[in-house]
Amino acid sequence: MDIRIAPSLLSADFARLDREVAEIHEAGADLLHLDIMDGHFVPNLTFGPQIIAALAPHARTALDAHLMVTDADALLSPLADCGVSRVAVHVEACTHLNRTLSTIRTLGMIPGVALNPATPASTLEEALNWVDFVLVMSVNPGFGGQSFISASIKKIALIRKMASGRTLDISVDGGVGPGNAEEIVRAGATTLIAGSSVFGQTDRRAAIRKLRALGQKGVSQC
Ligand code: DX5
Ligand code: ZN
Repeated sequence: MDIRIAPSLLSADFARLDREVAEIHEAGADLLHLDIMDGHFVPNLTFGPQIIAALAPHARTALDAHLMVTDADALLSPLADCGVSRVAVHVEACTHLNRTLSTIRTLGMIPGVALNPATPASTLEEALNWVDFVLVMSVNPGFGGQSFISASIKKIALIRKMASGRTLDISVDGGVGPGNAEEIVRAGATTLIAGSSVFGQTDRRAAIRKLRALGQKGVSQC
């Protein structure tokens, strides 16, 4: 099994986003993680479909949207128009989660559900039937550069157990770096989302290579 590395644009240089987006493909990224924040669901604001549409022609990496917003439904069609590949919505934000996830699929995107650190894995019991991936937040969402919450390891392992017998990507987001990549994968993760430990580094290619090598080491211990 191949571990995927998804650098988060949140830690990129916002003054030169077109080049950042293009260069991360050359550096070996598998997905480009886009953190969309509305200042309501999380106490921060980032970018939305208009900026993503402007950046999409520069990206050669599949676009991975993480919606940290109270009204995810309003963004789905615009994101599909931008060519976004997969979309994670927060279980805490979506009142009609089944409808939102099926809209994502109907629009031709891959649906996923994101969980805050305080949200138990058990909330996924139904939703696991409707998603292709789970995004485990290992920090409280809103900002890059926070420390990994160690209890996330147990949660990843539990979700992997709940998903046994089916194909499920488990993406882990927040505080992921060389110090914990191997352990995160060993617990059952298949995609490592990394902001500071990739875009925050001068040599992004080396940073991605290192994370991938550590991740693959974790796979061999699963
Ligand atoms: C935080 C975002 C993350 C963030 C991760 O709310 O969802 O994707 O960019 O940044 P690091 O890897 O620096 O913790
Ligand atoms: Zn994210």
